Amino acid sequence: MKSLIQQQQDASLAAIKTASDAAALKEVRLHYLGKSGAISCLSEQMRTLSKEERPAIGQLLNQWRNSFTEVLEAKEKMLLDQADEASFASLDPSLPGTASWQGALHPLTLLTNRIVQIFRRLGFAIAEGPDIDDEWHCFDALNTPPDHPARQEQDTFYLPDGRLLRTHTSTVQIRAMEQTSPPLRIIAPGAAYRRDEIDATHLSQFTQMEVLCVGEGITLGDLKGTAEFFFRELFGPETECRFRPHFFPFTEPSFEIDVRVKPAFLASKCTPASFKAEFLKEEKWLELAGCGMVDPSVFEAVNQQRSDQAYDPEKISGFAFGFGLERLVMILTGISDIRMLSENDLRFLKRFAGEF
Ligand code: DAH
Repeated sequence: MKSLIQQQQDASLAAIKTASDAAALKEVRLHYLGKSGAISCLSEQMRTLSKEERPAIGQLLNQWRNSFTEVLEAKEKMLLDQADEASFASLDPSLPGTASWQGALHPLTLLTNRIVQIFRRLGFAIAEGPDIDDEWHCFDALNTPPDHPARQEQDTFYLPDGRLLRTHTSTVQIRAMEQTSPPLRIIAPGAAYRRDEIDATHLSQFTQMEVLCVGEGITLGDLKGTAEFFFRELFGPETECRFRPHFFPFTEPSFEIDVRVKPAFLASKCTPASFKAEFLKEEKWLELAGCGMVDPSVFEAVNQQRSDQAYDPEKISGFAFGFGLERLVMILTGISDIRMLSENDLRFLKRFAGEF
């Protein structure tokens, strides 16, 4: 029996060697290790042996099973590795892959988020109002008389029912004060609409941010400090601000805010050479916002609507300012045509996604 086992063992190891693929190897495994395989059959025959013979034969069979299994598994692994290698053979890992398409936020959204972050640090909350509003919120409550040019048909989109697409986000000042008693600190980002000819610097729908702070003892100093803080956060600590007297119906006194941004800051911020706008070349004052101290007549209109004296102009005061976001994006990115922000050209959007 010993020699039979030895002979079978040699044959089994040779069979593993010659098996050239996984299927052949499986056959070999079955042939020797299966229920009616050679190893099992010979184990069965142990019963016919004498007690003295059994241990030695048992040991031989065990050794055979172990070495057979070991060699078989090694061969299995080798065949698997070979198959893996073969499947990679036609692959060139140095070729560029197919990039997956990932969406990104529009530059205007990115800027809005950035501005919200800056004002949040000063305790401002976001307020909202409707894009379609009435003349009272858009003009009358903001001390804008019926003969003001902004109210003309050719300057404003009116609906047949007399409502209109808001010409500025200052409407949200009124809506916020109607709903909330002072003190109040809000910013209102949103769309504004004007019957402007569309060109490189005008859109008929654009984006504004309104800022309103009302409470006891709010002064022009607070307005200047807040506006300067904001513009320095956005354009760098070297940024200069200038408050130039102006007129707005809803503030008294009123100013325009001019900002002078350091070209070095802009150069570090943006911009592909092809987009470099003129203002990168020299420092100049850019007119960026309107502002002022809230006119008492605005508070009175709100009080009338609320039927209380929460906004008593004798006791409280406030400042407001407003600015367009497209202009800021244009400065930050160096683009010179505002229409790029609304045309949805992916080449442009991809280039500026993730800036600021
Ligand atoms: N609403 C003005 C505009 O659209 C901007 C503005 C000016 C907002 C002065 C203000 C302000 O809050 O105080 O041109």
